[in-house]
Amino acid sequence: MDTVAVGPVGMRVSGLSLVGIDPGTVASLQALLSEHGVLVLPDQDIDDGTFVAFLQAFGQLTFSTGETPVPGCADLNLISNVGRAVPPKSTFHVDTSYVSRPPAYTALRAVQIPRSGGQTLFSNQYRAYDTLPDEVKDRLRGRTITHVVTGLDLGPDDETSAEHPIFREHPVSGRTSLYLTTAARCRSISGMGEDETRETVQYLLEHSTREENLYRHAWSPGDVVMWDNGCVLHRADHEGVVGDRVMHRGMVADYPQRIAA
Ligand code: OGA
Ligand code: MN
Repeated sequence: MDTVAVGPVGMRVSGLSLVGIDPGTVASLQALLSEHGVLVLPDQDIDDGTFVAFLQAFGQLTFSTGETPVPGCADLNLISNVGRAVPPKSTFHVDTSYVSRPPAYTALRAVQIPRSGGQTLFSNQYRAYDTLPDEVKDRLRGRTITHVVTGLDLGPDDETSAEHPIFREHPVSGRTSLYLTTAARCRSISGMGEDETRETVQYLLEHSTREENLYRHAWSPGDVVMWDNGCVLHRADHEGVVGDRVMHRGMVADYPQRIAA
């Protein structure tokens, strides 16, 4: 297994087959995820069954109510532009942060790659925290954001909102990351009114997603990309996509420490 940094966030891991992965390798990948946020795993000639088995080696999978399952594989979520006249919206976010225990990891398996466009962008949220001006850190220290769901039909028993620290300690690395999601899902910052919340979230998103803090992944056949929702934001770039884009997505519920605790 060889690793090389792909940008300000993310590592490319080559020479690793995801088939029949052993616990020691899973532990190494968890450590890499907690430090580098994104793992690009190229040249994986695998089907959904193998993809699911790989993810299950990290722990229990989770599926967010209201999202679209892959036909015949209820553990995976279908991300597809096929038959869509209008491209989906794409703003930086973390996955399913409106629950008290958001999914630790998300992974995409490239099923169909468009002829052009359709990249996925990631931001380094450790670096976003580290590079905040001191006065902003002082003003935000100890505060929380109430994350809410938008745009999904949920059942009566589903969680629809959760409060998380803005400066969140990563359960594996122990490092502090700037933790927020897309503006529409950041309902309020503790101790702030609507206007101040909106302005602050806007500022923090702009700060987080400056070009020098981003990795842009251009997909190749056989790519699996996995990320740690505790230290990156992500978004698809749906602009100017030409051709069908189909991804199968799986999410792992927990970090290793949380399971042991
Ligand atoms: C996701 C997501 C980005 C992409 O799967 O959670 O945001 O590039 N996808 O499809
Ligand atoms: Mn997402």
